[in-house]
Amino acid sequence: MLDWSDTKPAATPFASGLAPSPADATGLGAIERGAARVTVDEKRMINARADVNQLLPLKYKWAWEKYLAGCNNHWMPTEVSMQADIALWKSRDGLTEDERRMLKRNLGFFAASESLVANNIVLAIYRHLTNPECRQYLLRQAFEEAVHTHTFQYIVESLGLDEGELFNMYREVPSITDKAAWALKHTQSLDDPAFATGTLASDQQFLRDLVAFYVVFEGMWFYTGFAQILSLGRRNKMVGIAEQYQYILRDESLHLNFGIDVINQIRHENPHLWTPAFQDEVRGMLRDAAELEAAYGRDTMPRGFLGLNAGLCEQYMHFIANRRCAQLGLAPVFAEAENPFPWMSEAMDLKKEKNFFETRVIEYQNGGALAWD
Ligand SMILES: [Fe+2]
Ligand SMILES: [Fe+2]
Repeated sequence: MLDWSDTKPAATPFASGLAPSPADATGLGAIERGAARVTVDEKRMINARADVNQLLPLKYKWAWEKYLAGCNNHWMPTEVSMQADIALWKSRDGLTEDERRMLKRNLGFFAASESLVANNIVLAIYRHLTNPECRQYLLRQAFEEAVHTHTFQYIVESLGLDEGELFNMYREVPSITDKAAWALKHTQSLDDPAFATGTLASDQQFLRDLVAFYVVFEGMWFYTGFAQILSLGRRNKMVGIAEQYQYILRDESLHLNFGIDVINQIRHENPHLWTPAFQDEVRGMLRDAAELEAAYGRDTMPRGFLGLNAGLCEQYMHFIANRRCAQLGLAPVFAEAENPFPWMSEAMDLKKEKNFFETRVIEYQNGGALAWD
């Protein structure tokens, strides 16, 4: 995570008045034969000034470091044993009806959300984020979202759940539909083939999509989802799913921090976008998102159970929303809230719990192991 507290707005990039002409933003346009080599100063987060097909020279080392960190966190859901979960799920009295309802709705929310997040990266963000080191991270993130979707396929198969019930839940359960629809409207406005960044309105629209997906979807809503499952895991229930959620949480905390850095870097390069009115709008988005999450919490946990209920989840969302505001340099949206789940920060630090890579038994096939004949 970068410290943005002491960043100053960038100086006018082309003080000489000789601004280079905009570069091809997709990287798929005609090749400029004999064009000059790329310099670091020309690289931009949005509205490319330099060829987007050249990773080096690196400008944003934080993006490259997150790409390396993502690669170091590699895992696959099938490496986690589901035996205890299967036994508990099939036993008649291992889980209460309330716990089953929460678990199924939680899985249903994540099952479709992983696809929505992946589609937004690939079909909306990638095209307009015109920096190769950030695109390198997005490619890694897109694969991680595929691993997360794979996790829900593996859980459905292991527990023998109704796949249609789970994967279609985002179209059947209103509290889940409402969250997905709220985020999707920001992708939809970028989906217009005529959409291009480069104006105040369109650059702000791109920022709204980043806020909706990185800050809200991955950085707020996923966190109450993790808290629900990890709270079961703390009581020794559904420990396989809880372990998978810990790995997803580790990935998602990187996704969130990448998104925060992207937004803050765009702000830094384009301070005219971050007007007081726009800041208020972003704070309003976080407030609305927390309300949608509170409604989802009441729907998934109408009665609540040991250590977890809708009220605590709403309090957690207020705490998280205020933290996200601070990360974006915004004033808090809620009165100061105490973190009702302090154990979540321990759950995030996997190394303290155990070293996954020491306990794993599967070896990945590498180049040396391939046989071509
Ligand atoms: Fe994910
Ligand atoms: Fe993610």
